[in-house]
Amino acid sequence: MSGAARSVRLPDGTLVPALGQGTWHMGENARNAPTEAASLRLGLDLGLTLIDTAEMYGSGGAERVVADAIAGRRDEVFLVSKVLPHNATREGTKAACERSLKRLRTDRIDLYLLHWPGSVPIAETVEAFEALRAQGKIRSWGVSNFDTSAMRALMAAPHGAACATDQVLYNLDERGIEFDLLPACAARGIPVMAYTPLGQGGRLLRSKALAAVGARHNTAPATVALAFLLTRPGVIVIPKATQAEHVRANAAAATLRLDAADLATLDAAHPPPRRKQGLAML
Ligand SMILES: NC(=O)c1ccc[n+]([C@@H]2O[C@H](COP(=O)([O-])OP(=O)(O)OC[C@H]3O[C@@H](n4cnc5c(N)ncnc54)[C@H](OP(=O)(O)O)[C@@H]3O)[C@@H](O)[C@H]2O)c1
Repeated sequence: MSGAARSVRLPDGTLVPALGQGTWHMGENARNAPTEAASLRLGLDLGLTLIDTAEMYGSGGAERVVADAIAGRRDEVFLVSKVLPHNATREGTKAACERSLKRLRTDRIDLYLLHWPGSVPIAETVEAFEALRAQGKIRSWGVSNFDTSAMRALMAAPHGAACATDQVLYNLDERGIEFDLLPACAARGIPVMAYTPLGQGGRLLRSKALAAVGARHNTAPATVALAFLLTRPGVIVIPKATQAEHVRANAAAATLRLDAADLATLDAAHPPPRRKQGLAML
């Protein structure tokens, strides 16, 4: 069954596509940059207009690849980037944002994230994020790799409740967040961004359950793995793909609708958590 592509509402009311594109490992080798930019452009053509990058990826190289990919089509794109924790001081955050804007060759980042919790007090980073937002350099801000306790501390900080997302590891083999973090974010209307949605090292994509459900729908295991995450309300999914056939298989997930029998097959092979698990991260 197919249908319309889903979108997710951010706390400020902005609607973003539930399925986007990641960029980790892009920009690491200049020779591959044209292929990487072309794959992102193919994704844009197929409706994957949310692009996730970070100052860390390729030491700025991924942001440069993104700049090439979105040249002339900036207004089509919802652009996400991240500041490294050791840069996330009051002044360091602003300087890192300026460097990212320059590499991205744009005047604004739509969503700017703290890459993971570090030693800088979160209230200080939030203050810098809010200053960047007031200047129009970022439209919204969020965090990444924050477990429930870190989210609680963030919500208690001044302006902490303005957080637009928590980007975390989430795939069929890593469902821990379904126990507490996902419901806690949903209760506050904060979407979760699922990173590494295809699992690490290719193991998940060899799952017999994914193959079985894929056979029922005449589609690839990767498409099913992404469509599973898209059944969750308030979840944004950001697969990274450099090969064109991968981009196409991923884009197909936006309109694949899994039924109750499909979900039962996936749950049996990749069971949901029964108790609290510490947040897994890469
Ligand atoms: N916040 C964080 O700490 C954090 C951590 C990790 C990742 N992320 C973000 O999340 C994004 C996605 O995570 P990820 O890159 O770790 O993993 P992923 O998207 O789950 O998997 C990427 C790998 O899967 C392959 N692939 C993509 N589509 C495929 C398909 N349809 N069939 C078979 N293989 C396919 C890619 O190959 P090709 O490239 O050769 O096509 C690549 O090797 C990252 O790129 C990054 O933007 C954030």
